[in-house]
Amino acid sequence: MILKGKKGIIFGALNDKSIAWQVALKAHEQGAQFVLTNAPIAMRMGEINKLAADCGNAVIIPCDVSKNEDMDNLIDKSMEALGGKIDFVLHSVGMSLNIRKGKDYTDIDYKFMHDTLDISAISFHRLMQSLWKKDAVNDWGSILALTYIGAQRVFPDYHEMGDAKSLLESYARSFGYRFGKEKKIRVNTISQSPTKTTAGSGVKGFGDFFDYAEALSPLGNASAEDCANYCIAMFSDFTKMVTMQNLFHDGGFSYTGFSYDVFKLMDNKSKEE
Ligand SMILES: NC(=O)c1ccc[n+]([C@@H]2O[C@H](COP(=O)([O-])OP(=O)(O)OC[C@H]3O[C@@H](n4cnc5c(N)ncnc54)[C@H](O)[C@@H]3O)[C@@H](O)[C@H]2O)c1
Repeated sequence: MILKGKKGIIFGALNDKSIAWQVALKAHEQGAQFVLTNAPIAMRMGEINKLAADCGNAVIIPCDVSKNEDMDNLIDKSMEALGGKIDFVLHSVGMSLNIRKGKDYTDIDYKFMHDTLDISAISFHRLMQSLWKKDAVNDWGSILALTYIGAQRVFPDYHEMGDAKSLLESYARSFGYRFGKEKKIRVNTISQSPTKTTAGSGVKGFGDFFDYAEALSPLGNASAEDCANYCIAMFSDFTKMVTMQNLFHDGGFSYTGFSYDVFKLMDNKSKEE
């Protein structure tokens, strides 16, 4: 049990498709004790209660990540519930209103864009600032966020989320430096393959993204469960010296230039049409 005795906070488990859901199950399996959190509105269906029950009756604390007071309350209450400082945090949160409302990238609604950046990226800074000010993380703790290669390369339908992920990854470096220097705490992002979740499937053409990545990646797409295993490794003491990194977890997609499987895929798609 590589997380035995470790305490954490896991954001973003909406349903059993969510990457965070799989992370919670694995963290429990590996002996961790943690708080589950999501936006109050996302808890209406009550799905998270099932997860909490499967994770040794984990405490659930609502938090809209765009609100400072919610974030501060979450950190205070988590330390109370867990009986001390935290060893690991997973930020698994993303949302774009421009994508949801079908606005083109060349016709952005800036109020929506502010919300996208706030919820999907600035929330990571807000989380780290609250953890920092409250001195809420133990030495050698691990703070992790999930991201996508749309931060480095243009996937037109990924839209403003590419910009949000660039900012998120930059926060991991900038705050990671400070957390490392002052407190011996590490901060990283994991850049995951396309995954069939609620957020993933909300992106236009997601099925095509998914099939393309599957065909290009020598190992194929990484599943939510594979991603959860990597997160657990990143929370454990086996990765103590890894910080300020964007870690690709994508079956080799990010470093592959060519694959015949992509040709076969295109050929099959054109025959379907
Ligand atoms: N699915 C993919 O293809 C994929 C690929 C790479 C990275 N990611 C990233 O993984 C993370 C998790 O997404 P997922 O794919 O598991 O989808 P998901 O829809 O299951 O999770 C997204 C979560 O964000 C939460 N959220 C949205 N607004 C919030 C707010 N204001 N306050 C608090 N929580 C809020 C949702 O309630 C939900 O639980 C996201 O950062 C996403 O960008 C996903």
